Amino acid sequence: MMQTSVHKSEKMPWRKTKRWWFWLMLFLMMGTLMFIFYYSTTEVWPLSRSSESCNNLTTAYDFFPAYPHPYGFIMDEPHRCRQERPFLVLMIPVAPHNRGARDVIRMTWGKNTTVQGHVVSYYFLLGLSEEGDGAEVLEEQLLDESWRHHDILQSDFMDSYKNLTIKTMVMFEWLNSHCPNTSYAMKIDADIFLNVHNLVLMLMTAPRHLFMTGCVAWGSAVLRDHDSKWYMPVSAFPESIYPPYALGLGYVFSMDLPIKILEASLHIKAIYLEDVYVGLCMRQLGVTLTDPPHSGLFRVSTPFFAGSCYWSTVITSMLQDSDQLRDVWEIYQTQLLNGC
Ligand SMILES: *[C@@H]1O[C@H](CO)[C@@H](O)[C@H](O)[C@H]1NC(C)=O
Ligand SMILES: *[C@@H]1O[C@H](CO)[C@@H](O)[C@H](O)[C@H]1NC(C)=O
Ligand SMILES: *[C@@H]1O[C@H](CO)[C@@H](O)[C@H](O)[C@H]1NC(C)=O
Ligand SMILES: *[C@@H]1O[C@H](CO)[C@@H](O)[C@H](O)[C@H]1NC(C)=O
Repeated sequence: MMQTSVHKSEKMPWRKTKRWWFWLMLFLMMGTLMFIFYYSTTEVWPLSRSSESCNNLTTAYDFFPAYPHPYGFIMDEPHRCRQERPFLVLMIPVAPHNRGARDVIRMTWGKNTTVQGHVVSYYFLLGLSEEGDGAEVLEEQLLDESWRHHDILQSDFMDSYKNLTIKTMVMFEWLNSHCPNTSYAMKIDADIFLNVHNLVLMLMTAPRHLFMTGCVAWGSAVLRDHDSKWYMPVSAFPESIYPPYALGLGYVFSMDLPIKILEASLHIKAIYLEDVYVGLCMRQLGVTLTDPPHSGLFRVSTPFFAGSCYWSTVITSMLQDSDQLRDVWEIYQTQLLNGC
């Protein structure tokens, strides 16, 4: 009797602890599963991304941006590229109001103008901000920013998610007419970590002609779900698989391609997914995309537990937003100091 009661009183709290552990483990497992699910979906459906909010694509107009069209530049750097003759030009699409993202890039991966003895320069690509509250003030601030930094190109189409294809095509036009002595250009989003050093190293041994690389999607399914950010109706694109294309977050190309892509674009109706559209132009040209030398260089997402030399081994890695770049850049500098 006595023995059992002692036994019991000893066992009770253990049971409680056990139950507590059970719930804790269950909670952790659910969390892990949700985490894995989130990351696997971002890996599986990377496609093109933008910091702009999700959109309601209902009219045909939304799927077919107004291109070709003779867009002009309100803010330009008409002579800089010709004079500087950079080896590599980084072209960064960014919304007019996103001054914060531009400033972070100017202090991080945009800062070094000479990498491995090669001149590298960058330009921000803007459209027009929507009319309304503060649009005029914003334009004035942009003029001031452009005067200070000489890195802003603003074209006269409405800057919006659905117009990103216009931005990309205007980028090819600008590169083609302003950078005759440049070997490579890269289109890169503002919320990306870029290791310019590794990029230049890769380009030093890359082909100079008909070359495009990045995260290449070979045979992505066309998304027919109306709720998807990348929804594409059959009427706009009847095939069920996209031709190979480089994900819009960051792709590099040799400078013989812009004029060729522009010529191809005259034969293909522009669709709103800018990276897919460039892929369609590449198919029209019969130019095959190139995979990077190894798969770890262009990362669609940043692993939760990035290794101790992660930032010094990649070329691009997607971040949550451009604010994160400031912190990540410090970690990268530390990794360099630690001999990575
Ligand atoms: C999208 O827009 C259409 C018409 O403008 C509207 O009827 C529909 O409810 C909207 N859908 C969503 C999900 O907002
Ligand atoms: C710029 O390049 C030099 C030499 O390549 C390097 O030591 C330095 O860390 C770089 N600075 C930044 C901000 O990347
Ligand atoms: C795209 O830009 C054109 C030209 O500025 C404009 O007419 C159109 O409304 C824009 N579309 C969207 C969805 O912003
Ligand atoms: C610069 O570009 C022009 C026009 O494409 C070309 O004729 C010239 O040879 C180039 N110069 C150098 C140094 O690459």
